[in-house]
Amino acid sequence: MCGIVGYLGNKPAEYVIIQSLKKLEYRGYDSAGIALLSNGEIIVEKEQGKIVNLENKVFEKGKKYYATVGIGHTRWATHGEPSKVNAHPHSDCNSNIAVVHNGIIENYMELKEYLEKRNHVFTSKTDTEVIPHLIEEKLKYTTDLKVALFEAVKELKGAFALAIIVQGYNNLLIGVRKGSPLIFGIGEGEYFLASDIPAFLEYTNKAIILEDNDIIFIEREKYKIYNNFEEIERNIIEINWSPSQAEKSGYKHFMIKEIMEQPEAISKTFLDKVNFTNNEIIFYEIDNSLVNLIKETNDIAITACGTSWHASLIGRYLMEEIAGVVPEVDYASELRYRKRPITDKTILIAVSQSGETADTLETIRKFKQNGAKIISICNVLGSSIPRESDYTIYTHAGPEISVASTKAFTSQIIIFYLLAIYIGKLKGELSSKEINTFINNLKDLTKKIKRTLLLDEYIKSIAPDFSKFHNFLYLGRGINFPVALEGALKLKEISYIHAEGYPGGEMKHGPLALIDENMPVVVVLPQNSLYEKMIGNLHEVKSRKGITIVLTDENNGDNLENLADVIIRVPTIDKYLQPLLYIIPLQLLSYYIADYKGCDIDQPRNLAKSVTVE
Ligand code: F6R
Repeated sequence: MCGIVGYLGNKPAEYVIIQSLKKLEYRGYDSAGIALLSNGEIIVEKEQGKIVNLENKVFEKGKKYYATVGIGHTRWATHGEPSKVNAHPHSDCNSNIAVVHNGIIENYMELKEYLEKRNHVFTSKTDTEVIPHLIEEKLKYTTDLKVALFEAVKELKGAFALAIIVQGYNNLLIGVRKGSPLIFGIGEGEYFLASDIPAFLEYTNKAIILEDNDIIFIEREKYKIYNNFEEIERNIIEINWSPSQAEKSGYKHFMIKEIMEQPEAISKTFLDKVNFTNNEIIFYEIDNSLVNLIKETNDIAITACGTSWHASLIGRYLMEEIAGVVPEVDYASELRYRKRPITDKTILIAVSQSGETADTLETIRKFKQNGAKIISICNVLGSSIPRESDYTIYTHAGPEISVASTKAFTSQIIIFYLLAIYIGKLKGELSSKEINTFINNLKDLTKKIKRTLLLDEYIKSIAPDFSKFHNFLYLGRGINFPVALEGALKLKEISYIHAEGYPGGEMKHGPLALIDENMPVVVVLPQNSLYEKMIGNLHEVKSRKGITIVLTDENNGDNLENLADVIIRVPTIDKYLQPLLYIIPLQLLSYYIADYKGCDIDQPRNLAKSVTVE
């Protein structure tokens, strides 16, 4: 949460920083600010609300900055309400030091008290403001900025990434990473700092993923990285995302672009892991020691939050039915506080698009401390979760910018499908014939996803009628119950319509009381072993005047006219791959309802893409 950027180069810094901040707006959008080193002075501009407000202010007619060094911030408030005064950058008493921060300074109250006793005057309610004051305090005892900075950083507790500029140092940009992501971009005669790669992808694809306890001093034509205050070298990597992946490319919102990208995203996820010639699943991320542990143990836990948790629930069905193992699945925010036994025979699978979710990260730490091995399934390269995991399987879905997760969800399911086959084989649960069938079923998956996406126009046409309702129920069973949960989550988070997902069989235990002519019920009804049971649930709803949207297979010949007000037909596919197709109409339905209602789809109120706070 919160996006930070820094720039030192040869272009007008305000322009580059605002453009970069826009790419990070998914991380928070309640206020934004910029600090520029202009003619030897620090100029700060801040505005409440979205980056466009800051942009209008920075580019007001007649304003000129002549700056090529600066920092910027887009905020998701933690300490201190969203307001101009709490917006970053924050400065010291003399406005000589400007700091932008992502993360939390846990001991800020203590530091603030200490600094106030030394006559520092604070203007905001943020934890961040202690940082420039602390550096200022240290500079009373040394003229060496590096020493002062190191001394200040030693006193900060918590998770943070910082970008800092200092008056009098016209050719210096400083970055600090401890627990929150910070990437260093290396361009032609210009350098970037950012919370995430898309911020500078337009300018360069060369980067260093800074590690925890790294401090970087960036000057013109050179930079130095220190880890734990000792100078070190770090490898430069080349990012193979194209800048257009971080653009809307003609789509109205990132969400619809990302929904439409699912065929490519999914094939990128599985292509390097499936050998279709000899029907083999290859996880080059998994070594012999993990193979031995997988063979030996049945103690597997899966953890995640939100949409990634829904993908994990589907993962459990796949593991249970394909691999014959029964992993438990729990929200990271619950699992981290449970007294679950953990041993060196425990495997924790942690699932996270962003790789930054605080609860997931803390659960990983707890399991690791108790000897468990951690496998993460993650989308964002070099984020914190992969760095703290023993093994990381990347989904390779490309940047997901919209706050509502779509392509990451389907990519995570694919990884679970492949893992289930892989583990099933290792445990001797699967015959070669079964493995061949599972792998063959993947062959026309992307084609079927493309066909499902053709429902786009139809779903757009029905969305206005449904946008007037205030409540929705989503029903599914078995492997498609998490699809119902995910459909409901998508609707509530972007359209602000209340929605609940339920297993069909649970209706008579309470929710049936809600059904009347004002309650649309979305029923996920693929043809599988639970089809007849689900038909029963559909009768329960229809006989109580519920309005039903029924999703079923293209080749389902049953007459559903009396049971369904709307029928959406999805290509027929193997039961284990059904969630990948059935979620698509639900993503589209939420999108078009929210769009019809004029909601801020990519940046829903009160939310942010990476939840780096508890
Ligand atoms: C919903 C959504 C969130 C995330 C959740 C976990 O559309 O995006 O529910 O799934 O915050 O985020 P990650 O997967 O980044 O750990």
